[in-house]
Amino acid sequence: MDLFKGIYKGRKVLITGNTGFKGSYMSLWLTELGADVIGYSLDPPTSPSLFKILKLNKRISHTKGDVRDAAGIKKVIKKYRPDMVFHLAAQPLVRPSYRDPELTYETNIMGTVNLLEAVRNTEGVKVAVNITSDKCYENKGSNYAYRETDPMGGADPYSSSKGCAELVTAAYRSSYFNPALYGKSHNSALATARAGNVIGGGDWSEDRLIPDCIRALTKNRSISIRNPKAIRPWQHVLEPLSGYLWLGALMWNDGISYSRGWNFGPNDGDVLMVEDIVNEVIRLWGKGRYSVTPDNRLHEAELLKLDISSARLHLGWRPVYSVQKAVETTISWYQTFHNKSSKDLLQFTLSQIQEYAHAAKNAGLEWAQQESNRSR
Ligand SMILES: NC(=O)c1ccc[n+]([C@@H]2O[C@H](COP(=O)([O-])OP(=O)(O)OC[C@H]3O[C@@H](n4cnc5c(N)ncnc54)[C@H](O)[C@@H]3O)[C@@H](O)[C@H]2O)c1
Repeated sequence: MDLFKGIYKGRKVLITGNTGFKGSYMSLWLTELGADVIGYSLDPPTSPSLFKILKLNKRISHTKGDVRDAAGIKKVIKKYRPDMVFHLAAQPLVRPSYRDPELTYETNIMGTVNLLEAVRNTEGVKVAVNITSDKCYENKGSNYAYRETDPMGGADPYSSSKGCAELVTAAYRSSYFNPALYGKSHNSALATARAGNVIGGGDWSEDRLIPDCIRALTKNRSISIRNPKAIRPWQHVLEPLSGYLWLGALMWNDGISYSRGWNFGPNDGDVLMVEDIVNEVIRLWGKGRYSVTPDNRLHEAELLKLDISSARLHLGWRPVYSVQKAVETTISWYQTFHNKSSKDLLQFTLSQIQEYAHAAKNAGLEWAQQESNRSR
């Protein structure tokens, strides 16, 4: 695959959080693009795990480590001297963040500080992208789509930890990686990426809608949902990943223009209620039922929309799949998982990546055009 202007071919790319859901897809995609992938994370957070199913430890150089361990992350960066870093390691869930705010803040905030310190103190990292969340914004609770310039916030430990991770990154950028001084006092471009709820095959996280649906459907149990009317910007996992990779490629060629925060979300019409998603999952699975079990003890934002006009305009990035296609792609992955061997799943996951890249190419997205086609 010669995508993203061929930037990733032969490039050393460090991914933190590589044993997780998004990190596994990103590792697979990057190795297919010819990158030399280095992973730094704790063990896979779930069982089953996509990292294990795809046997990614055989495709990348994986180091088991904690981002709270400043010396550990520094050692890996010094050892491998990556060209590019994508920081995905996090405690990524809202409800567990209520149970353990300390762990959430230590991982998401100090983990970011430790990573940025390691980058600051090692020559050679040209691009660093910190993956935060749409939840980093101060939630207005109204029918409002957040723009990159909106204030950071967060009413729960997870959301505020991501808001803080954004502020930390912005402070490092203005203090040590100032775009105005790129090529003079430093050679690193630093950006953040804020995406919404992603779905895709191979996620078994607790408290996420699709994994909850699959767990219930495979056991012939009723799917229990808390917030049927909650609205989320659903998107297939490959959508934000294409955004992160394209952002990284643009930053590689231009260390000044792209060093800031970017929203990667679905198209406006693809912002659906939880109930709509569950009905679609049941239809595709072929059977199933759901019940509503309200739980008002913990606050979760009812409405979250992202304004993606900046990524459209300045990066030429936009979503490729409708929400229906995203759910369909996701459910077909789980159906394959339940019917086939793990060997087939690697091929199947790769075919989904290829199908997505093909759809992006047909949609005219610049990142998906082959180098040879572009020069014609
Ligand atoms: N999945 C989503 O819907 C979503 C939405 C918005 C933002 N995000 C962000 O994307 C990133 C990846 O999310 P995901 O869905 O793949 O989560 P995940 O739970 O599947 O993966 C998290 C990864 O971080 C690692 N990790 C956790 N604590 C660590 C620590 N202390 N030290 C080292 N590694 C640690 C885990 O081992 C795992 O590899 C996170 O930063 C998350 O906040 C995810």
